[in-house]
Amino acid sequence: MQETYEYDLSNILVRFSDAIDMVNEKLAKHQNRTAYIAFHIACELKLSQEEIESVFIAALFHDVGALTPDEKVELHEFEELDPLPHCLRGQTLFDSCEFLKPISSVVRYHHTNFVDLPGSMALSNNMLAQIIHLSDYIERHIRRDEYILFQSNRLRHQTVLKASKEIHPIIVEAFLKVSHSESFWLDVVSPYLSAQLEREGPLTERLINLDELVELTGFFRMLIDFRSSFTASHSTGVVKCTELLCEYLDFDKVTRQKMMVASYLHDVGKIGITNDLIEKPEALSEEEYELMKQHVYNTHAILSGIKGFQDIEKWASKHHERLDGTGYPFKNNFDDLELCSRVLAVGDIFTALIEDRPYRQGMEIHAAREIMIDFARRGKLDEEVIQVLVAHIENIYHQVRDSQEKATCYYQEQLLFVNI
Ligand SMILES: [Fe+2]
Ligand SMILES: [Fe+2]
Ligand SMILES: [Fe+2]
Repeated sequence: MQETYEYDLSNILVRFSDAIDMVNEKLAKHQNRTAYIAFHIACELKLSQEEIESVFIAALFHDVGALTPDEKVELHEFEELDPLPHCLRGQTLFDSCEFLKPISSVVRYHHTNFVDLPGSMALSNNMLAQIIHLSDYIERHIRRDEYILFQSNRLRHQTVLKASKEIHPIIVEAFLKVSHSESFWLDVVSPYLSAQLEREGPLTERLINLDELVELTGFFRMLIDFRSSFTASHSTGVVKCTELLCEYLDFDKVTRQKMMVASYLHDVGKIGITNDLIEKPEALSEEEYELMKQHVYNTHAILSGIKGFQDIEKWASKHHERLDGTGYPFKNNFDDLELCSRVLAVGDIFTALIEDRPYRQGMEIHAAREIMIDFARRGKLDEEVIQVLVAHIENIYHQVRDSQEKATCYYQEQLLFVNI
């Protein structure tokens, strides 16, 4: 009998939203907190279960259109900054994922004054956009260096008074009701908020299957890669390369799909690394290299928090390990590394060699081939996997490059140069 694979949607969405905000401590948990506030307002307004789920999901990812770490922090800190570009990009990103498409307009209008909304407040998505508008506004005005109950009155009255020029009165009224208790504010800033949202949020018990997981992690891939033009197509290339290797190695369908997920997410831990390092035009110094090493550890830490991800976590977070024990961060060797981890390491290195980097152009097939063979000869990468790579190198090279070109085109045409 075919085994079924199911994943906890609440767990996955809350953890990823949390991971994205690790980009800078100034906005740690911003989207988790916004989702908490939005969820409570939506319940107070007695919206339908579907609407409550939608506002929660949109709030968890409402700022995905702020692509770079700098843009994320600036939007969080400066009220006068034009929010339109990140709203438009957020809408485009949501539109690219079937699961999120129906709520893309919620993200598009999450900074729009209620008098400027397209259509009336009776339209569900307008209502949800307004709820996020207020929730986001409140969250951004919480001072992170002051005890929350010393500021809850200010937030409830002065801040809301300011926000009420933009936000429909019924939402302001619902917020004032739900924010009456101390526990509401203590929850908002609780260090355990993510676990609480997973447990008590509106998505508990919602499961997704492996096909849906692949689609969703394809969306997360964009959030990981689009933080810089230098990484914009990296994970896409790795996914294509490992996908082909898995096919040639005759892996079963479930393993192939799980490997796609692991490949999409292998660099999720780079979210915590600054763009100075990612975009450095020369090779990294020794010290910078040490700093860069933590990205795989972060991948491990983020994915370890997701139920049912044991294999995916292991395969994703070991892509810098080497068979002779010289890799990082676990200092694993051949006996510790499963075949899938070894395949992902090959996919990552081969893609990195043939793509352009800030400090060098991508290599031609022949040069990359020689380097990969040398890695196997020196006992760093798996010989069997390298043999498969070499046997199909023309096809793999062109398919990886094609997939990366498409990803770069999408990034440049749909997101970077968005017409405003
Ligand atoms: Fe925003
Ligand atoms: Fe925000
Ligand atoms: Fe990496």
